[in-house]
Amino acid sequence: MENQFIIKGGNPLHGEVVIGGAKNAALGILAAAIMTDETVTIDNLPNVRDINVLLTAIESIGATVNRLGPHEVQINGSTISDVTIDYDSIRKIRASYYLLGALLGKYKRAQVALPGGCDIGSRPIDQHLKGFRALGATVNIEYGMINTFADQLTGNHIYLDVVSVGATINIMLASCMAEGRTVIENAAKEPHIVDVANFLNSMGANIKGAGTDKIRIDGVKRLHASEYSIIPDQIEAGTFMVAAAATKGDVLIRNVIPKHLEAISVKLIEIGANVEEFDDAVRVSATDRLGHTQIKTLPYPGFPTDMQPQIATLLALSNGTSTVTESIFENRFKYVDELTRMGANIKVEGNVAIIEGVTGFTGASISAPDLRAGAALVVAGLVADGFTTVDSIHFIERGYEDFDKKMTALGACMEKIPVDDEREIQKFKMKAV
Ligand code: EPZ
Repeated sequence: MENQFIIKGGNPLHGEVVIGGAKNAALGILAAAIMTDETVTIDNLPNVRDINVLLTAIESIGATVNRLGPHEVQINGSTISDVTIDYDSIRKIRASYYLLGALLGKYKRAQVALPGGCDIGSRPIDQHLKGFRALGATVNIEYGMINTFADQLTGNHIYLDVVSVGATINIMLASCMAEGRTVIENAAKEPHIVDVANFLNSMGANIKGAGTDKIRIDGVKRLHASEYSIIPDQIEAGTFMVAAAATKGDVLIRNVIPKHLEAISVKLIEIGANVEEFDDAVRVSATDRLGHTQIKTLPYPGFPTDMQPQIATLLALSNGTSTVTESIFENRFKYVDELTRMGANIKVEGNVAIIEGVTGFTGASISAPDLRAGAALVVAGLVADGFTTVDSIHFIERGYEDFDKKMTALGACMEKIPVDDEREIQKFKMKAV
């Protein structure tokens, strides 16, 4: 049965929250883990839907997946008997396409259905395929499947026409056991790129320059066992930072790498929130109504597109006129209609949202259009006067572990209940008054 969140807004968030492992790093790392025949142990894995779907896809091709706990898994790729990932996996989670790079790199052949994922705009994968072809692979698209094979993969110079996280990771995977040197120019620089490269290096790969726009990969003959702990999730952390500021709370966000959060911290400080950095934590608080600003999403180290709906929600409550320009994905403003129903005053023109700040939201029944927008709408509900229900929360659960529990531990009044269960709604309302 589908669930929804019910929220009574108005409680400032207070206390401490511990951030989990980075979903988007974990997706690349789990795919990389099948590239050795030895056992790999991965820790600080987020227990979220996207990860569990990818683990199922990995199992479906015969790899051995052993969950040691909610945040730890062992993978052994020696038992892989199939190199085909069907549409069922890929339809649920786009990042299954990392298995294309991983299987091609290891077995020189792979078949993966064309990807689905969050509907945030057209999401071509031409740069991934260009990379595979440059390494010497044949790539055909037929019957909805990407079919790729090679006699031998040979390093090459690959210039990405667009800065792409997915293409950078997929090419690192496909090339780390290729013959000779591969250079990726105009590579993405996100922290999860560095984490995937560090993980591959811990298995014996030779990758240098990850985190800059030029990555050099010297092919090695084989990869070996490794034990690895995934970096903290920059976007989960950023979401709690915004939630603390929006509710005029005071929250210590632990297990983070403050450097990864700089683009977000800087904007929060600019509009008047307090952000204090510690070695592995940030503390965010706000007392007064915040101010306006201009934001443009950009590849790292710019402001992350995955934080765009959350910051826009905060700006919708701030004083004055703000603009938010989405330059990565064309369809990432679908939450604006829902926010408008809560009282926000936002006009979208092309890829720019023009936000006239209002002094408050009012609760409404709303629906999460995708993962990050869903999280932003929960934040809106936490601030709104009265009750808000957010449905389609399966989107939120793709990337946030125990979102409701972490929020309630900070003092939020919210619960997960079955959709349209009037009894549960009434029970919650009775408790909440
Ligand atoms: C990754 O998606 C993330 N997903 C997304 O996170 C994130 O929004 C995005 O990077 C940008 O940071 C994962 O890591 C699994 P891209 P990805 O390739 O790799 C264009 C979330 O909320 N492009 O960096 O798919 C593309 O259309 C999710 O956790 C091409 O034109 O993003 C986009 O405009 C949603 N051709 C831009 O590049 C290609 O071959 C950046 O996309 C590839 C991409």
